[in-house]
Parts: sequence; C-alpha cells; structure tokens
Amino acid sequence: MKRNKIVAGNWKMHFGPKEAAEFAQSLRNNLLDTHGVSVILCPPFLALKTVFDTVNGSEIKVGAQNMHWAEAGAFTGEITGAMIRETGTEYVILGHSERRHVFGESDEWINKKVHRSLKSGLIPIFCVGEKIEEREAEKTEQVIAKQLRVGLKGLSEADMETVIIAYEPVWAIGTGLTASPEQAAAVHQFIRGAIKTLFNSDVAESTWLLYGGSVKPENTIGLLSNKDIDGALVGGASMQLESFKGIIDEAGAIE
Ligand code: 13P
Repeated sequence: MKRNKIVAGNWKMHFGPKEAAEFAQSLRNNLLDTHGVSVILCPPFLALKTVFDTVNGSEIKVGAQNMHWAEAGAFTGEITGAMIRETGTEYVILGHSERRHVFGESDEWINKKVHRSLKSGLIPIFCVGEKIEEREAEKTEQVIAKQLRVGLKGLSEADMETVIIAYEPVWAIGTGLTASPEQAAAVHQFIRGAIKTLFNSDVAESTWLLYGGSVKPENTIGLLSNKDIDGALVGGASMQLESFKGIIDEAGAIE
C-alpha cells in the first residue's frame, strides 16, 4: 500500500502566538506546492489558534504537543482534547519522549490520552522510542513492544485508522545523532510486525509510521525512501524556514 508522506514540525517550547503565526505565514507563502506531502505544524498550546487562523484554507495542518486524558475536571494547568479541537487543531502528539522522560508520563497515562484524543476528534501522533542504554542492552524491541502494547490497548481496528505512530529513538532527539536509514528501517519494520500481532495485517499496512530524531534536509531522502518510513517528526530543523521547507521538498521528491 502506498502512503503519502507526512512531515510534522514539533516546535516544543518555542514560539509564542505572534512568532508562531509569523513562521506559519512565511511557510504558507513559500510552500507553493507540497508535492502531496501532508505538513503539520505543532506549536505550543497558546499558539494553536493563531497558527490555525494563519494556515486555514491551505494544505498545512495544525497539531498540539500534549493534552490531558480527562474530558474535563480539576486538573490545574492541563488542557482537554476538546479545547484543542476548538482551535481548529486536528492532530496531537502524545507520549513524546520528553513527556515520558522529563515529566514522567507512563504508558498507561499515554494510553488514556490516546483514547481521549480519538473521542475528542483529534488524530494522535503516538510516539515510541528507546533510550541509549536500552539500545546498548539490546532491549530496543522489548521497550517498543511494551510501549505499543500498553499505549494502544483497547483500541479497535477502526480506531487505528486515525492513529499515526512516530518512532523517535531518544538518543537521536536534539543530539545531532540520527539513526541510520538501516537502524530506523529495522525498528519501523519491527513496529509494523508488532501492529500486525496486536491488530491485523491490514492495520499494520495502513498505519503511518514517522521517524523523528535530528531529521534535516540532508538525511530526509535516506530515511524516508524506505517503504516503512512514511514521514518525519522534526524538532530543531522545523523552526527554520529553509530547513523545514527543505525537508518537505525532499520528502515530496520521493517516488
Ligand atoms: P530533533 O529533530 O530536534 O532531534 O527533535 C526530534 C523531536 O523530538 C521531534 O518530536
């Protein structure tokens, strides 16, 4: 099955409402043709609305970086999926490694967030990935299998039609180290196999699997030309017009 490529920019804790909208506007002005690539901008919560208003009517979509699992309630400082959806945002990154490892989010929490995101009408970009010590101990597959099993627990095959998975090796995030195309492809293949076991082969074949970790224009073709790598979740390089547009152009050039 042929899946079009997705390039998502995760701006993490950068760009307030004004700066984010300015970036989105210059991307919109410069991105005259996405070559079939789905482009998603993920600004901080406060900038979701201004970015959505800026890209509305173009092919650029908007994603949040996190949300709470409850429908509403006494959760000071948290944001619901419905609130995110109300801004026009369509996607939400869940289980990013910084949420897991800096803020202590468990697989169980992330699972509840995935369920709530679907109920809220959002498309989750569900992240998995191993730490360097886990890779060195040859536990990559074991770690990712558990993240998938618990994180996707209770989802139906129909739910999986709206779930995007991102593989982000923790050691490659913001470090300048990138998984080689072979390393990334091996894990993507493993993830597809795990999805097949958890659901079925149709779901495994139709699920978008993104790679994240120091993606830049120069390594985009190497990584994304693999048949199991359907796009990129980009951090640092998504905050500069030239490099982000470069990644989109490279992704769009892949047959
Ligand atoms: P970098 O592209 O800066 O390594 O970040 C990757 C990432 O965490 C995207 O979610």
